[in-house]
Amino acid sequence: MMWKKLKDRFRVDDYFEGKVDAYDTVGFSGWAYNRKSPNSPVDIEIYDSSTLIGTIKADTYRKDLERSEIGNGCHAFRFNFPLDFVDKKNHEISVKIANSNYFLKDSPFTVNIPTDIDFISIDITNNCNLRCPFCLVDRKGAINTDFMSLETFKKILVFLPYLPVASFYLSCLHEPTLHPDLAKFLEIIPQHWRNRVFFTTNLAANLTDDTFIAMSKSGIHHINISVDTLNPTLYPKLRKGGIYKRFISNIERLTSIFSKEPHAPELHFITVALKSNMNEIPEIVAQCAKKYLAVSHEVRYPFNVNSIDDVWRKDNFITEETDWDIIENSLKDTTANYVLCRPPDNYYDAFASSVDYYETGQNHVQATPPEKPIQLRIDYKGIIRVLTREEHFYVNINILNDPLKLFSAFS
Ligand SMILES: C[S@@+](CC[C@H](N)C(=O)[O-])C[C@H]1O[C@@H](n2cnc3c(N)ncnc32)[C@H](O)[C@@H]1O
Ligand code: SF4
Repeated sequence: MMWKKLKDRFRVDDYFEGKVDAYDTVGFSGWAYNRKSPNSPVDIEIYDSSTLIGTIKADTYRKDLERSEIGNGCHAFRFNFPLDFVDKKNHEISVKIANSNYFLKDSPFTVNIPTDIDFISIDITNNCNLRCPFCLVDRKGAINTDFMSLETFKKILVFLPYLPVASFYLSCLHEPTLHPDLAKFLEIIPQHWRNRVFFTTNLAANLTDDTFIAMSKSGIHHINISVDTLNPTLYPKLRKGGIYKRFISNIERLTSIFSKEPHAPELHFITVALKSNMNEIPEIVAQCAKKYLAVSHEVRYPFNVNSIDDVWRKDNFITEETDWDIIENSLKDTTANYVLCRPPDNYYDAFASSVDYYETGQNHVQATPPEKPIQLRIDYKGIIRVLTREEHFYVNINILNDPLKLFSAFS
């Protein structure tokens, strides 16, 4: 009985042949065919443990296969791992010919894609169109508005495959929509790695439908939109320099365009909770979910940075625990997906440093490697810094022939 089962199993599979040739952190290649019908390419199934993660036809021509008299030579394939494989976990990959029990030689194999970098936060400009009084960036010295070049951006993109999903800030501290080539930047991100990328915007600039169309088709993971108020009187006080009507026009056009694009990036919202907007927060969260396609909403305490004006801080920061309780309770009935980030204990007793400008141009790599995982910041000029070790490590990506070799400086 057992023998018959084995015979049944191998009767057909005896004609199959195939092999996994090589794998790396991006994917693997191999070949397979049916000796009995070499002109009909076989389908390959790829499993992560027992989960089918993809099917691919082994029909690519390879000279070495033809030379080795492997069918007609058109039996090779290449498979790229799904984006969520960059997770430091072991993946047991089995590769078999579809509708058979034939597993390719050198399968299964184990891949573990390391990600020693937590995130990379870049900024494609160094300024903002607004001057919000709570901004965590000290803008006192900000006069010029400079932009990252396409060449610098292209160099930075080599890091993308080594990052987890949604961990590449295309922009973080400043306002990305000021960059005249934002659409072009989005376009040149390799398709396969686009879901590493996101950015945050105030949606306060004069933005065209074309920009929103480019964003909607960009394939990036998400866009954070800052909405601290939907009240036209309060808006220019919190978003100093912003025009309420323009902001509303932007958000309405953007969401209308995104709603028509099935693969548009997710929209996440950020609201900084202050005395002046605290009563409005449930309404902001509800409206962003109902009207503005919010997938998630972060309501956060303002980071207590030392560049915020003392009087403004005193008048606007919510310092009473009971007020935070009120906000927490007021959000309980909402059906929207939100997270409320309350300040830690004794938070208002100490200042965090504001984020400064990084204008020095010297290139410098210190010998001591930083602790892992590493968090990198790259400014518009291409200067890479390791967060929390800013004084010890910085180098301009433009002087590096192979930026990936930088990783060896960290190991
Ligand atoms: C520095 S801004 C840069 C992006 C863009 N200019 C904007 O405001 O959306 C990034 C995010 O940080 C938030 N933010 C600014 N100052 C903050 C502070 N002191 N504490 C917490 N969040 C802050 C902004 O509201 C925004 O959502
Ligand atoms: S819009 Fe953003 S970056 Fe600009 S001042 Fe306001 S919080 Fe800061």
